[in-house]
Amino acid sequence: MATLTKAQPIGVFDSGIGGLTVAHAIKQMMPNENLIYFGDTAHLPYGDKSEAAIQAYSIKIADVLMKKNCKVIVIACNSASSAAYELLKEYVQHSVKVINVIDPMVNWVSENFHDCTVGLIGTKRTIQSGIYAKKIDASGRNIILHSLPTPLLVPMIEEGFFNNKISHDIIAKYLRDPLLEKIDALILGCTHYPLVKREILDFYKDAVTVLDSSAIVAKALYDYLASQDLLKDEKNGQDHFLVSDFTESFEASTKLFFNEAVQLEKHPLWN
Ligand code: DGL
Repeated sequence: MATLTKAQPIGVFDSGIGGLTVAHAIKQMMPNENLIYFGDTAHLPYGDKSEAAIQAYSIKIADVLMKKNCKVIVIACNSASSAAYELLKEYVQHSVKVINVIDPMVNWVSENFHDCTVGLIGTKRTIQSGIYAKKIDASGRNIILHSLPTPLLVPMIEEGFFNNKISHDIIAKYLRDPLLEKIDALILGCTHYPLVKREILDFYKDAVTVLDSSAIVAKALYDYLASQDLLKDEKNGQDHFLVSDFTESFEASTKLFFNEAVQLEKHPLWN
């Protein structure tokens, strides 16, 4: 692997601005770090795309992040983690490490919910890939996983429908599915879903543990950077938030995902 330095930024990407939930957790845990965030808003949503399409976008995004000199790449999207992680890891193996959002969650669930029944909700791409089931099975921890695609949640959240009657009804319709009966915990297998975590907890009257990957992924990143002596120890420089297509509504929504408004810069993926 190339020689890396503490001062280099962290590359983070998602299909759009949903991955800002992960970016926010990273900044909370490691405020000295500078981020280069790439939201592939031109190709949103990834959840309905083919594996091949997501792989092609992910490779192009990795090229952008490596040109920006990132010391690590975080795939802040479950759909891209399920479709493109293995390929991306191989593609950048001599330059940087790639961290996905699925492995840290699987490790967490294996440690904390063995001998339990766990539910998983996510996009069609993530659920159809069966990747959580494969990785949880491989952990050998006697976990029964019940997975349900919940494709309406991303457009619902993107359109600002949450904490209202419509979002309550859609969430309740999905969570009442018999597949998700009698679960001990529910994995939010999409980086948009932390925005409706409170509504999901309310549905379960707090009787089910709802697992949001943001802080778990930030901790996995922290552990990796610490193990390589790559944690930045001074606060200087700045974050950059790039999007492959710009609209004012994307910029306005960043506040919901990042807890503060961020300025988006347009950076086309195909030149
Ligand atoms: N945030 C993405 C994920 O975690 C889903 C959004 C999309 O479908 O593009 O899967």
